[in-house]
Amino acid sequence: MKIVVIGGSGLIGSKLVTRLREKGHEVVASSPNTGVNTLTGEGLADVLKGAQVVVDVSNSPSFEDKAVMEFFKTSTSNLLAEEAKAGVTHHLALSVVGSDRLPDSGYLRAKVAQENLIKNSGIPFTILRSTQFFEFIDRIAKSALEGDVYRLSPALMQPIASDDAVAALAELAIGKPVNGIVEVAGPEKIPLDKLARKVLAAARDKRQVIADIHARYYGTELDDQSLTPGATPRIGTIRFDDWFSHAAAQA
Ligand SMILES: NC(=O)c1ccc[n+]([C@@H]2O[C@H](COP(=O)([O-])OP(=O)(O)OC[C@H]3O[C@@H](n4cnc5c(N)ncnc54)[C@H](OP(=O)(O)O)[C@@H]3O)[C@@H](O)[C@H]2O)c1
Repeated sequence: MKIVVIGGSGLIGSKLVTRLREKGHEVVASSPNTGVNTLTGEGLADVLKGAQVVVDVSNSPSFEDKAVMEFFKTSTSNLLAEEAKAGVTHHLALSVVGSDRLPDSGYLRAKVAQENLIKNSGIPFTILRSTQFFEFIDRIAKSALEGDVYRLSPALMQPIASDDAVAALAELAIGKPVNGIVEVAGPEKIPLDKLARKVLAAARDKRQVIADIHARYYGTELDDQSLTPGATPRIGTIRFDDWFSHAAAQA
């Protein structure tokens, strides 16, 4: 099976490419560095020749509201149009748990726009909505710095190791299209401010972390249901503390 991974050089993409190759598939890692740019359309027709499956794990270089919407709308439209011409039979994309519940977030509005383009494309599809990757907690914490303090929501999250998200993607990529949404999450619910405290303390950042139920997460307030999955998600096996001590030891 020929599988094209758009965003194949990214955190998720690079791990997914390795995993699918280990299973014996012909996998093409695609990104601007390899001459495939979904924003301009460069290289798309060539790379999609003979592909059965496309996995889109690209991400916008900018999270600014207008830029991120432009990225996901344009890149997804270009990609789906070329997939239709090439006869691709499965489009698999990675989205975010709760994206449709948080319209105040510009990033998540853009992910919903991406999902809608996929649903209306006529190409058989699967959308995997994942919770936040453990690797992303550091960036979330740093985005919450206000002056000299970090102000973070104490809402529950259910973050996941990127390896667990990749395992779910790899399984879906070689399966039949679901023509719907599948969710994946980590094994534990943990308040966001607590996760941030751990990450910041390990970085010896002594600035105060304030738990504030009105603190915004990429533009939106959160409650305990905002970023946690529904009733029947796939659940990863790696616990945050185990991942974190391993990552700290490696650093
Ligand atoms: N972060 C989270 O916690 C989380 C949670 C759930 C879902 N997700 C979703 O997971 C996906 C992957 O995230 P990630 O953290 O793995 O991203 P990442 O590490 O930032 O990688 C992004 C990838 O997209 C590529 N890319 C950027 N612009 C492109 C373009 N114009 N054409 C083609 N490729 C382009 C990049 O290529 P270069 O290396 O050449 O720049 C890179 O390979 C995203 O869609 C995100 O919404 C993330």
